[in-house]
Amino acid sequence: MKNILVSIIIGAALAAGWAMPAATAGADEVSSLRGNLALPDAKSPPPVYELKLDQEKFERSFKSQPPLVPHKVDKYRINLKTNKCINCHGKADYKEEEAPMIGKSHYIHPDGKERDQIHMSRYFCTQCHVPQADAKPLVANNFKGAK
Ligand code: HEC
Ligand code: HEC
Repeated sequence: MKNILVSIIIGAALAAGWAMPAATAGADEVSSLRGNLALPDAKSPPPVYELKLDQEKFERSFKSQPPLVPHKVDKYRINLKTNKCINCHGKADYKEEEAPMIGKSHYIHPDGKERDQIHMSRYFCTQCHVPQADAKPLVANNFKGAK
């Protein structure tokens, strides 16, 4: 019991010691891309990105990235009754629609078994898959994506 108490106290002291310098450094040295302006004072409007659709698919930036969508999605409803994305990309219809099949991983349920229904954690497709846009990096960098 005594040992546990001592380690809790040491742990708390260490945590406080580490947290404090980080908090003070943040305020002076790091400024956001909009400068040191409060949100309501920011002058430029938020950027509007031009979608880059119906052309070559963008490469993935990392191996397990959800692929970007090379077509518009705003008219495709996803709700309790209907999921337009599944109508084209689902196991049952993708061949006829000539669309790529939904990732196999989406059909694997927590018990590790593959089913014919996608797992509900993958139901809201646009939570992860967004249309391709010509969004230039906000900060110059030499990152190279995965092929
Ligand atoms: C009318 C049929 C249709 C519907 C509806 C549809 N798609 Fe597609 N989708 C396609 C086709 C066809 C392609 C392949 C385009 C290509 O390769 O150029 C595609 C490509 C994709 C890709 C790229 C896959 C890859 O491997 O790179 C993703 C991701 C995707 N769609 C997601 C969605 C999402 C999310 C929705 C719903 C919001 C949706 N699609 C609705 C037909 C459809
Ligand atoms: C929680 C995030 C998430 C959701 C929700 C999601 N996906 Fe994906 N999707 C991914 C990831 C990550 C990949 C790439 C790895 C993989 O295949 O699992 C992928 C891959 C894909 C692919 C390409 C498969 C391939 O073999 O290249 C298609 C098509 C796709 N998803 C369609 C959909 C559709 C349609 C929905 C909605 C019914 C959906 N996804 C929901 C994360 C998601």
